[in-house]
Amino acid sequence: MNREQISRIAHAEHPIKSPLDDDSVRRLLERGLPRGDERVLDLGCGGAEWLLRALAMCPHLHAEGVDISEEALAQARRAASDLGVQERLVLHHQEAGDFVSSQPYDLVLSFGATHAFGGLLPTLAAARKHLAPGGRVLIGEGFWDRAPSPEAREMLGDFTDLAATVDRVVSEGWTPVHGHVSTRRELDDYEWACWGSLASWALDHPADPAGSQVLTTATTRRSEWLRVYRDTWGFVSLVLRRTPDCL
Ligand SMILES: C[S@@+](CC[C@H](N)C(=O)[O-])C[C@H]1O[C@@H](n2cnc3c(N)ncnc32)[C@H](O)[C@@H]1O
Repeated sequence: MNREQISRIAHAEHPIKSPLDDDSVRRLLERGLPRGDERVLDLGCGGAEWLLRALAMCPHLHAEGVDISEEALAQARRAASDLGVQERLVLHHQEAGDFVSSQPYDLVLSFGATHAFGGLLPTLAAARKHLAPGGRVLIGEGFWDRAPSPEAREMLGDFTDLAATVDRVVSEGWTPVHGHVSTRRELDDYEWACWGSLASWALDHPADPAGSQVLTTATTRRSEWLRVYRDTWGFVSLVLRRTPDCL
């Protein structure tokens, strides 16, 4: 089983691929979409769960998503059709960094895909190129809630603490107008959902040749979470506007 198949099973019960519950997602979208008739772009949209929720919330919204995974985009197309929002959703199968559009967007969002641009600040720089005047960016990023062990840093990457993360964003000319720090419950629910779904799949498919690989992955990833990063890693979501030069 490849990484994408594993990820699809892991997220079966938590289609938002970040430690955010449904209420948090809805509130973040409401802050990013004050009018309800915006043009929205999702860089690294995956199955377009954020866009589908935004389209369902706002009947006058138009959304576009970019992703390199044809499988994820096919899933997004099916879900859009099931929801009856397919005419307001355009999906682009390409590298997010190569995406160009003749029209700007009122909201650019990116969750779980900052690695595609080389980190948080390059992702914001890419989002800025697509942003209409007065537009907003909605982005999620990890941070260190406590000093990480070298193993945690090696496993998850080179984050900063929450204050430094926000400072870095501000120093690039952005003003946070709303934010959400994932709660302990959201963080734990997300991890249990991912590794629990994988473990359940393995137990439900004992004769499948991939069964033991899937159970081993669930066990390893659950143990890494509990032993290596549960106590140190956090996740912040930010709604950002450009800071005018005169301020
Ligand atoms: C963790 S998933 C997040 C999906 C979605 N944003 C969400 O939160 O549900 C990361 C997504 O980024 C996509 N991705 C990774 N590198 C990419 C790139 N260079 N260009 C576009 N998409 C990319 C992957 O295919 C995957 O769908």
